[in-house]
This record gives sequence, C-alpha cells and structure tokens, in this order.
Amino acid sequence: MPMPQAPDPITRNLWHVVAATDELPIGLVETTLLLDTKLALTRGNDGEPVVWLRSDEERGDEIDPDTVLERLPVRTAYGYTWTCLGTPNQDLFPIPEFAEPDRVNMSCGSIGIHVSAPRAVENFLDMGHFPYVHTDILGSEPHTEVKEYDVEVSEERDEVLATKCRFMQPRAAKSATHAMEVEYVYRVPHPFCSVLYKSCPEDESRRDVIGIFLQPMTEERCRAHLLQSMIDSTSTITDLRRFQQTIFGQDKPILENQYPKKLPLDPRAETPIRADKSAIAYRRWLSQKGITYGVIPQAS
Ligand SMILES: [Fe+2]
Repeated sequence: MPMPQAPDPITRNLWHVVAATDELPIGLVETTLLLDTKLALTRGNDGEPVVWLRSDEERGDEIDPDTVLERLPVRTAYGYTWTCLGTPNQDLFPIPEFAEPDRVNMSCGSIGIHVSAPRAVENFLDMGHFPYVHTDILGSEPHTEVKEYDVEVSEERDEVLATKCRFMQPRAAKSATHAMEVEYVYRVPHPFCSVLYKSCPEDESRRDVIGIFLQPMTEERCRAHLLQSMIDSTSTITDLRRFQQTIFGQDKPILENQYPKKLPLDPRAETPIRADKSAIAYRRWLSQKGITYGVIPQAS
C-alpha cells in the first residue's frame, strides 16, 4: 500500500461528517477514519459529541469525555456529527427545510463504500442510471431518457445547482401510490455532499429533501451518510428508512465497480455520455477549488 498523500488544504479545512449523532454511544469509544486519519468519538452525558485523534483507544472502551483535553472542532447538524482536521474556515451549508416543524427528519444509515467520495457524489447526480439500477422504483423502461435540464454554479452560495430535472418514476417515494413525472433540483454545496429536492407525492406544493453526506475515509473509500427530510404523514420512520436503504443498496455494487476509484477531473478522461452536464459542472468546480483528495487532478 502506498503512503497516503496529505489532503489538500481545502479538503483539510472542510467540515466532514463522521457519525449519526444519536448513534454515538454515551461514555463509550467509537472509532472511524477521516482523510486517512484515525479518529475516536464519543458523547458526553449532555449528548454532545466529542471527537479526537485516536491513539490506542479501541471501539467499545469506556471513556469519561471530560478526560479528553485535545479535541477536534465539532458540530452537530442535520442529525450528524461533523468535525475538521484543520481550521474550519466557513460554516456548514444550510438546509433550511430541515427546520420546518412538520417534516420527518431521519438519518438513514452510514454505509461503507469502496470508492472515492467524489465518485459517490457524481453517482447521486446521475439520473441516467435510474431505470437500470433502481428498476421499477426510480425508473423503468421505456422511460430511459434524461431530458434537458439546467446547471449553474452559484457564485454567491458557492455550490453547483441543477434544476428542472424531470424523470418518470414508478415509485418516487414511500408515499407514492402511482407513477409520476418527478421534478428534481440537485445542490452540491460541499465537495463531498449533495442535497436533492424532489416532487413530494403527498403535497404538490412542496419537495422532499434527501441528503447524501460522504465521509472521505481514504482517497478510495468513503462512508455514505444519508438524510431524509420528508413530507409524509402516513409511513413509519422504519419504512421510510428501509425505502432509502433499498435504493442505496442498489447503488453500492455499481459504485464499487467504478474504475478508477478516484474521480478523474480531466473532461476527456471518460465518455461524455456518463459524464453528463451536472457531472461536468461538478468536476470543473472541484478543479477550480483545487481539490485533489479522492480525484485524479486535471493535467495542467
Ligand atoms: Fe442510484
């Protein structure tokens, strides 16, 4: 195994997701990996997460969080714990819908994937695979066409935005009772996170929100942390979680078959059919930011 490269400074100073906060055991050590760095985590009696650089702690060890003096910066947002190995130089991106009182917010699991975080973001943006990978749920033949949509990079918010994405879906959400043409908006507000807004079967005036937050463990491995923020007055949380986990379980083997595991940023590296408009904008945005972690940078 080659020695891991130090992450680029942009990546190092980002907030990164490391755990679903309420799954962190109080007073017991949890362990994980972020940017090739071993971390230990726990929660205090106040429920607040504590994250530090792991030395000889093992998962399941008892720990008094008050004895942890050298801590990494930490914050909880959208049900998840975020930390930073450098100096966090900006706030975490907003998801205002999360605070709406009638939404059902839930974490839907943290799934290890043997692929780079940017590959997982790009797959999340890709509608072309719906009929083939999520057959009879998010797509079905003969409705395989990805229709024209708009992509921009919002300078003000520093995020990639794809709008007017439409797709015919047999089972758009747990709450869907029939096939419908679903409209999507995708945001990429963080190099390793994406948030999508899709037509809500229960209320035409609103959107269901699904977030994917990737924890880059190494350049070629990540954990996908999924968020659902739904308008659904009938399904149970267990059913809503299971629906999302089913879909992501279909993506995992596809993602792990991608080669190379890092995302090539050179626009000529892969065929333009796979690398569609939102993917091209995402790759260019990563290039312009100077992200080199988990990608194959464009030759200059
Ligand atoms: Fe998928």
